[in-house]
Amino acid sequence: MVQRQIPNPVELLELMKFKKPELNGKKRRLDAALTIDDLRTIAKRRTPKAAFDYTDGAAEGELSLSRARQAFQDVEFHPGILRPAPDVDTSVDILGGPSALPFGIAPTGFTRLMQTEGEIAGAGAAAAAGIPFTLSTLGTTSIEGVMAANPHGRNWFQLYVMRDHEISYELTRRAAAAGFDTLHFTVDTPVAGARLRDKRNGFSIPPQLTLGTIVNAIPRPWWWYDFLTTPKLEFASLSTTGGTVGELLDAAMDPTISYEDLAVIRDLWPGRIVIKGVQNVEDSVRLKDAGVDGIVLSNHGGRQLDRAPIPFHLLPSVREAVGDDFTVMIDTGIMNGADIVASVALGADFTLVGRAYLYGLMAGGRAGVDRTIAILRSEIERTMRLLGVSSLAELEPAHVTQLTRLVPVSRAAVEANAR
Ligand SMILES: Cc1cc2nc3c(=O)[nH]c(=O)nc-3n(C[C@H](O)[C@H](O)[C@H](O)COP(=O)(O)O)c2cc1C
Repeated sequence: MVQRQIPNPVELLELMKFKKPELNGKKRRLDAALTIDDLRTIAKRRTPKAAFDYTDGAAEGELSLSRARQAFQDVEFHPGILRPAPDVDTSVDILGGPSALPFGIAPTGFTRLMQTEGEIAGAGAAAAAGIPFTLSTLGTTSIEGVMAANPHGRNWFQLYVMRDHEISYELTRRAAAAGFDTLHFTVDTPVAGARLRDKRNGFSIPPQLTLGTIVNAIPRPWWWYDFLTTPKLEFASLSTTGGTVGELLDAAMDPTISYEDLAVIRDLWPGRIVIKGVQNVEDSVRLKDAGVDGIVLSNHGGRQLDRAPIPFHLLPSVREAVGDDFTVMIDTGIMNGADIVASVALGADFTLVGRAYLYGLMAGGRAGVDRTIAILRSEIERTMRLLGVSSLAELEPAHVTQLTRLVPVSRAAVEANAR
């Protein structure tokens, strides 16, 4: 028999602890976001469909992106036990300088279109967190504007070689003069990938007011207010606008870039240079032999070639082939700090986050990017503690198994089946 009593009003009062309501709507919204997926949900609600889809979407059937995210979800961690890790050190040296966390902000084009604070929010949040910020050639804030937002931190510049090479070379010189310390030369964009959502939405630069966009704008007045009351979008390198992003890219980008262009850029750039968009072991080794400072294994967040290799799967064999003394970074599909920890364990020196940053930006401008970084930081720290490691250097391949859903079919197996 359970013993019962009359409720004691004092005990009841003790249970009733009402929190002071948070009156700042943005803070309330962002504090309630516990994961990057939560930020994505808020971002979707607050951003016009065409701009959200441009960010969230990928190329063709979006398989490269969904497979990359799946690969991270299919990680199995192997913790060590009874290894106290009361404090964890998440800092790392990367490309000749420090970063407080093992990730930086990836270069993204047209960023002020997603939310008006754009790159200034990204660079400011990176400065506050002590991590690098990367400005895209197709950025919507000037090189000098980013430098002013992150004057004491690490600024990296991403280079596309345009048909008019001089435009790209001039930007490279400007970024060097402004004090950017690393150049990311992106090589996976000879032509734009087929972003079908953009086609279907009739997404154009600048955005066009059609009946559809006006109806879609009604529940998102703040985005439009920001867009119409802040300076016009300007691109450092694009003199033409009008058309989908794909059409703009195809008109602007040089599809013939080669190792010869790399040599020219090497001569122009006084700092470190990394090649972004590497997708196999042979190219990784060749680039190391060519004397670059590092590579980013990336399929451009699934926005270029669909059904491309999953960078996270490539990582162990690339690390083995290039050895320990060459910088290997990775991006595509990172939605959780645990994805970053798994990447470091399997040999990545550093990681980049694209959409995770942009979801935060769309959810709440600068405060939203701060929230993205805070979420990833706490996931990294928690995962490290649960694994029983207190520094990134202690992470090793034994901490991670990559479970695979899709396994390559060998030619021998196909032939055997056919017999
Ligand atoms: C909206 C958007 C715009 C991008 N623009 C560029 C760009 O201008 N230059 C570039 O090298 N990569 C660009 N990327 C690719 C990112 O730098 C990065 O490789 C990718 O976002 C990583 O995948 P994730 O979004 O899953 O983190 C862009 C990505 C997104 C989502």
